[in-house]
This record gives sequence, structure tokens and C-alpha cells, in this order.
Amino acid sequence: MSFDHFEYKGVRFGVTVHTEESLNYAENEFEVLDDDVFNVTYPKSGTNWMIEILNLIKYEGDTTVNQCVPIYERSPWYETLGFRELQQKLTQPRIISSHLPQQLFAKSFFKSKAKIIYTMRNPKDVIVSLFHFTKILYIYKDAENFEEFLNDFINGNALYGSWFEHIKGWMQMKDDSRFFYITYEELLKDPRGSVVRLCKFLGKKLDDAQIDSVVKHSSFSSMKENKMSNWTQMPSEVLDHTKGSFLRKGISGDWKNHFTVAQNEYFDKVYQEKMKDLNMSFFWEK
Ligand code: A3P
Repeated sequence: MSFDHFEYKGVRFGVTVHTEESLNYAENEFEVLDDDVFNVTYPKSGTNWMIEILNLIKYEGDTTVNQCVPIYERSPWYETLGFRELQQKLTQPRIISSHLPQQLFAKSFFKSKAKIIYTMRNPKDVIVSLFHFTKILYIYKDAENFEEFLNDFINGNALYGSWFEHIKGWMQMKDDSRFFYITYEELLKDPRGSVVRLCKFLGKKLDDAQIDSVVKHSSFSSMKENKMSNWTQMPSEVLDHTKGSFLRKGISGDWKNHFTVAQNEYFDKVYQEKMKDLNMSFFWEK
């Protein structure tokens, strides 16, 4: 997986996306407010889907903001360059996105009452989604060889480091009352039930019609049609819209169209080995 990167405390970050200074700000200087809600993921796990859902919950199903503010400004990534400018426009309760691994997260969070929603996705589908994303996002050199790409992913040679370490790091918080975790696959299988659980965690009381609106407007088809949610407002130097869409397929199991039988067996073996200490199974696992 080829992109211009540098290492910060052992994790790969993107030149032009992050700097040591922006990462240091995120970890050591950013002041978390007690009503902040963090949307944390490993890339390509459903981050934008969760941004849409959380903003719709915040406005009780009203779509005004989701129809006029680009998704990456509604809940910007606080470790990236440019965040401080966007931060000025956020209204409380702020919904803030991040792909940071747990060990680099804002120190002030751990002393606050703020909340984290952590969304995970079957890593095989994360790999496939990321593989296609490299064709459109400017920082990547288009990945041509899937096998090489897979090995880079397994070895943590990826933006934001190892998927396995990300999950294991964040799962240390699984019993913390400020932490809520969910999988992309649960969201797909039961969007309404997932929204109800999220509302409960956030202490938001929405009526049935408001919940219906959240579910409807955060669906794949609604987001794909909404120009403020489908990333088409992003200039073509950043995202090459001629080569693919940000909202690509929005399904689970697309890995079956990309992995060979041998690659799948190999990945399963690596997964078992790397995740054995965690002693947890997730909804995507059969
Ligand atoms: P695919 O490439 O598999 O289609 P992230 O936001 O973390 O970058 O994740 C992007 C992935 O989430 C893409 O997956 C995208 O299509 C999918 N996605 C975004 N919104 C979605 C929605 N409302 N429903 C289902 N999948 C969604």
C-alpha cells in the first residue's frame, strides 16, 4: 500500500493529511468537552455512515444540516491538518471523528465525561473497501496487486497502522460506560435497532417518526443521492470522481469477490493468531 507517510510513535500517518504537530495537538493539547461525542473507527469501517446517523440523531431526525453542510465538515477528524479551522464551526454537542488508535487518543478524553462510539467492520471488507479507495484518494498510489495490498494490511503498513492493534487497543475500553461499540454488519442488519441503541447510549429521546427519519436519511441510497454526504463536493484533485465513488457498494461480504480461497484461509489463520488474546467474537464472524 503505497502513500507518502511518516511514522509517529510507531504508527503510519499521511504526509499532507497529518503532521507531527497535528498529532501532538490531538493527543496532548486538544480539550475535550464533557458533552463531546467521538466517532472513532479504523478507516473504511463505516465512519461516514456513523457521521450521518449521529448528526441526524443530534437534530432529532431533521435533515437541514445534513443537506447543507458537507459530511467532512459536520464531524471533522480532529487529528488532521485543518481541523482547528473547522473546529470553530462546530456546535455543541460536538460530534468529532477520529481514526486514531487508542494509545494516541486525546489524553483529556480520559478525564472527561465525553463519549466514544467505535464502529468496526469485517476486516476482509475493510481491505476491499480500502483497495478500491486507493484508486480515488489522492494520497495513495493506485494499488494494482491485491496480494501485496493484503500483506501490507496484515503487516500494519497502512494509514493509521495495524487494524488488529486498533481493535485490540480500543477494546480495552469495552466495559467503560462512556464507550459504545457496534459493527457495520449490525448497522446493515438492523439499522433501526442500532439507532435506538445509539439514542439510548447518548441519552437522546426520539419519537418513532424521528427515528424513522434518521434511518431513512442515513441509508446508503439516501447518502449516495445527498451531495453533502457523497463526497462529490470534494475537489477532483483530492478525490478522483471519474475512477470510483466514495459510497461504492455499501454491502457486507464483497471480500468474496476479491479473495482467493488461499488468501481467505491465510487471512483466517493470521486473524486467529493475532486476535487470540482478545477473547471476543464480533457480529461479522460466522
Ligand atoms: P464500500 O467501499 O465497501 O462500499 P468510511 O466512511 O469509514 O470511509 O467507510 C466507507 C465504506 O462505508 C464504503 O464501503 C461505503 O460505501 C460504506 N458506507 C457509507 N455509507 C454507508 C451506508 N449508509 N450504508 C452502508 N454502507 C455505507
